[in-house]
Amino acid sequence: MSELDLSASLLPNARDAVRALRPSQIREVANAGFGVENVLPFWFGESDRVTPEFIRTAASDALAAGATFYTHNLGVAPLRAALANYVTHLHGATSVEHVAVTSAGVNALMLAAQLVVGAGDRVVAVTPLWPNLVEIPKILGAHVETVALGYGAQGWTLDLEQLLAELTPATKMLLINSPNNPTGWVMSKEQQRVVLEHCRRHGIWIVADEVYERLYYAEDAAEATPDASRIAPSFLDLAARDERVICVNSFSKAWLMTGWRLGWIVAPTALMDDLGKLVEYNTSCAPAFVQQAGIAAVEQGEPFTRQLVSDLKASRDHLVRALSAMPGVDVKAPPGAMYLFFSLPGAAQSLALCKSLVQEVGLGLAPGSAFGAEGEGFVRWCYACDTARLDQGVARLEQFLVRHRVN
Ligand SMILES: Cc1ncc(COP(=O)(O)O)c(C=O)c1O
Repeated sequence: MSELDLSASLLPNARDAVRALRPSQIREVANAGFGVENVLPFWFGESDRVTPEFIRTAASDALAAGATFYTHNLGVAPLRAALANYVTHLHGATSVEHVAVTSAGVNALMLAAQLVVGAGDRVVAVTPLWPNLVEIPKILGAHVETVALGYGAQGWTLDLEQLLAELTPATKMLLINSPNNPTGWVMSKEQQRVVLEHCRRHGIWIVADEVYERLYYAEDAAEATPDASRIAPSFLDLAARDERVICVNSFSKAWLMTGWRLGWIVAPTALMDDLGKLVEYNTSCAPAFVQQAGIAAVEQGEPFTRQLVSDLKASRDHLVRALSAMPGVDVKAPPGAMYLFFSLPGAAQSLALCKSLVQEVGLGLAPGSAFGAEGEGFVRWCYACDTARLDQGVARLEQFLVRHRVN
């Protein structure tokens, strides 16, 4: 191979906006754990159970029947219809023309951002937050301002006035994730109403990431709908379908389909032609046999999801009880999602703490700083597994804290 003499301007660098993206600190902790035997991985946001069998069977049947071709950009008609029914049932009348199938939630977030924001646009996000939401608009050259949730006796709370003050007329898009990853915070219906009205007044787009809407454990949740489904408050309950609200959802959490990469968007019909173009140029479509599995999930998955939520609630309560008994640990049971975001001795440097935890005792937690500066001082533990596994993790944490206790 011949030597190339490249001037600085020809060096093979990615765009500045891409190079400035934050690398994943969760990945950094996982890398620190390479070589450590028998790590308990509570750091990623997924269950340790496989996707239910009736969904896997729907996919393998579809494959056997030859579902191996491209589909419509916005998804196959039966899946869009099934999703329109599902959303109508949970949040009120929603037609097929408002629904688009995506390659999971993260692709839906990218598509939503590509629809609405461009270089130089101002975006506001409520944090701590799963990093993808904050980084995606930056890929497009947008500036992201953050409004931090506060932490106190009530757990994580939003200062609504502070958020409204940030939502200036110059703001293009608000990103809200509720139930929230990592804190489990859930925005109340009343707060959603105020924010929606404010955004309407100023022409601000709301992109609502509601991928955890089914993982909601508030005491009043059982009464929330006539059929006792548990559902967190949603912007879809309040917004007209043709206003500036884009709702992002996923099959990953409610049906344990993280590896399948299937999600959806509910958006104004006026966006759908442009959304179809964006899907074409990003992924062209979600895989055909995966979409068939999605139909089975949406149409037959309700008993499964209810059982899952009940199991998750039991796991949450179990872990909260165990952690609360440890000196120096401050933990509260959050109303949604599948994480505990809590403080403990050493968490002021959460990245260093999580690396030590994995290297010394094989306990895999995510550092709070992975979710923005506002998350520093905390760690995130995904409790989507059985209680025996949680107990093993708790024992390792105890061992670590005893070893490092300063008397
Ligand atoms: C807040 C939030 N939004 C979206 C997603 C996207 O999930 P997926 O791309 O698997 O649908 C996740 C995954 O952890 C998440 O935590």
